[in-house]
Amino acid sequence: MEAGVRTHVVAHLPGDGIGPEVTAVARALVDQAGARHGFRIDWRDADLGAQRYLRTGELLPDDALAALRKADAILLGAVGSPSVPPGVLERGLLLRLRSELDLYVNLRPARLRPGVAGPRQGTGLDVVVVRENTEGLYAGAGGTVHAGTPFEAATEESLNTRAGVERCVRYAAGLAARRGGRMTLVHKTNVLTHAGRLWQRVAEEVAAEQGIVLDYAHVDAACLYLVADPGRFDVIVTDNLFGDILSDLAAALTGGLGLAASGNLNPARTGPSMFEPVHGSAPDIAGTGTANPAGAVLSAALMLDHLGERAAAGELESAVDAVLASGGATSTRGWADALSTRLGQAGDRA
Ligand SMILES: NC(=O)c1ccc[n+]([C@@H]2O[C@H](COP(=O)([O-])OP(=O)(O)OC[C@H]3O[C@@H](n4cnc5c(N)ncnc54)[C@H](O)[C@@H]3O)[C@@H](O)[C@H]2O)c1
Repeated sequence: MEAGVRTHVVAHLPGDGIGPEVTAVARALVDQAGARHGFRIDWRDADLGAQRYLRTGELLPDDALAALRKADAILLGAVGSPSVPPGVLERGLLLRLRSELDLYVNLRPARLRPGVAGPRQGTGLDVVVVRENTEGLYAGAGGTVHAGTPFEAATEESLNTRAGVERCVRYAAGLAARRGGRMTLVHKTNVLTHAGRLWQRVAEEVAAEQGIVLDYAHVDAACLYLVADPGRFDVIVTDNLFGDILSDLAAALTGGLGLAASGNLNPARTGPSMFEPVHGSAPDIAGTGTANPAGAVLSAALMLDHLGERAAAGELESAVDAVLASGGATSTRGWADALSTRLGQAGDRA
């Protein structure tokens, strides 16, 4: 290893469809930024996803999980194929990784960037949705009885633990303290009173302790405000299902799936965190060279920030902003070249 060069081990899990196409661009840009900022990435390839499942029947074998645990971070493209039934990869790979690696925060920033056409121009839309990522309705509690009869009954139970809610709210409050000092709890406390009371009580306690302003909005009202008056939000903290839906709405208002980035975080750092564009494997455009890699690049920027490489993370963000401001690109290659050029210019200016 060269003297003075920091090394981060990153598992690259490209997955299926456009996943390998967009993460290849992100990976090259991370390497480019690293060369200038004194770090290198020791990339470890992870072959998981629909193609492996179809080939071998394996979703997340023990040795693959053990290898992921050894990484400092994971960069995921997307997994999914029309040949794999819905739920197989979601439950057997993605949700399992979230619980095995205790990725209890899903971080979804959404900012209306210069040059992005959208209905909310000039509204100051710049929010981060902090979604609880391991509990709620996604915990897998529930079941089916009397299957196949007219009395078939299906239940999904929302699991909310004090510890699970508190660690998520604490992360959001810390983020709010570093941003505008304001956190909004989004829930449906008037109907989901049991879980709602727990979330409300924890949010009030943590906000008071950390000296931040706490607002509250019911989830239906929050959807309306995100469209009509997004300036009222800065950091939103919410449960798994509400966060899943709200963050997609926020993505749609800030340029769509091609630009949306996310981090599945283990803020306690007992294992690696995982970063991925919000979009799926987009089989309809895979191989056409038209996938927008910006969401993957912005996810890589979140990853660098998490790894402590803040200057490099900021330059990746700025490169995306600059390319968007000058009209974006129409092909994956076009994006890659434009982003690389902008990143090089950031280096020249420094
Ligand atoms: N985290 C994940 O890995 C993840 C997330 C969502 C969906 N999926 C899987 O992906 C597969 C396809 O799902 P889907 O079609 O509902 O969602 P999708 O996000 O893959 O695609 C939705 C639409 O957006 C377009 N699109 C998505 N990303 C784009 C990009 N970067 N550039 C340009 N256009 C882009 C697609 O072409 C498609 O028309 C399914 O198998 C699904 O299960 C995986």
